[in-house]
Amino acid sequence: MPDDAIDPDEEARRRAGLALANGDPTGWFEPLYAAAEAGEAVLPWYRGKPSPELADWIDGRPGDGRRALVVGCGMADDAELLAASGYETSAFDVSPSAIKAVLNRFPDTTVSYRTADLLTPPAEFHYAFDLVVEIMTVQSMPKDVHDPAIASVSGFVAPGGTLVVGAVAEESIDLDTWEGPPWPLSKAEVESFARDGVTLTSLRRVRDDARWWAEFTR
Ligand SMILES: C[S@@+](CC[C@H](N)C(=O)[O-])C[C@H]1O[C@@H](n2cnc3c(N)ncnc32)[C@H](O)[C@@H]1O
Repeated sequence: MPDDAIDPDEEARRRAGLALANGDPTGWFEPLYAAAEAGEAVLPWYRGKPSPELADWIDGRPGDGRRALVVGCGMADDAELLAASGYETSAFDVSPSAIKAVLNRFPDTTVSYRTADLLTPPAEFHYAFDLVVEIMTVQSMPKDVHDPAIASVSGFVAPGGTLVVGAVAEESIDLDTWEGPPWPLSKAEVESFARDGVTLTSLRRVRDDARWWAEFTR
C-alpha cells in the first residue's frame, strides 16, 4: 500500500532529483511505474480518464483510419480515446512497466503500444502520423532537454498532419520558488514546436490560464 503520508508530487520530485543527480533525465519513471504497479507508489499525473482538452478536440473529428501517435502515453487514457475515435493508434512510453500496466489495463486494445524514448525515437516514426498528441511529456523532463524533445515530437507529424500539445504554462507559476518536475513550458517553447515545416494554427490558455493548449499542422 502507498504510504498516505507521502505526497505523490513530493515523491516524484525526490525520485527525479536522484535520477538527475546521476545525469539521467528520465531514469525515475521506470522505478516509479514499477512501484505503482506493486501498489507502493502513486502516479501523480494519473486521473483515470483522458485529457479534457483532447476529449473536446476529438469530438466531431473521427479518425477514419488515419494514423495517430501518443507521445509518453503513461496509463494510456488518451491513446484509448483516439482508438475509440477511429484512429489507427500507436503510443509509446519510456517506461516498460508503464506499457506492461497499460496492456494489463486494456487487454483487448487495438492500440500498438511500445517502449521508446522520445530523446532517441524510432526512425520509422519520422513524418509518419496524421495526428500526434503530446500532453505533459516534454514538461516531465528538465529544461535542458526540452528542445531536442520538441524537435522529436514535431518530426513525427506527416505532411498534412496535425499536432496537439498540452502543457502546464510556465507563465502561471512562480519560477523563483518552483521545483520540478514538472518543468512547465513557456509560450516560446510551445511556439517552438513550429519548426521544419510545422506551423502553429492555434494557441490558447486553458484551465484558468494554468495550461497551454496548442494546435499545429505540417
Ligand atoms: C507526466 S506523465 C504524462 C502521461 C500522459 N501523457 C498523460 O497525459 O497522462 C509523463 C509521461 O511521459 C513519459 N516520458 C517521460 N520522458 C519520456 C521520454 N523521453 N520518452 C518517452 N516517454 C517519456 C513518462 O514515463 C510518463 O509516463
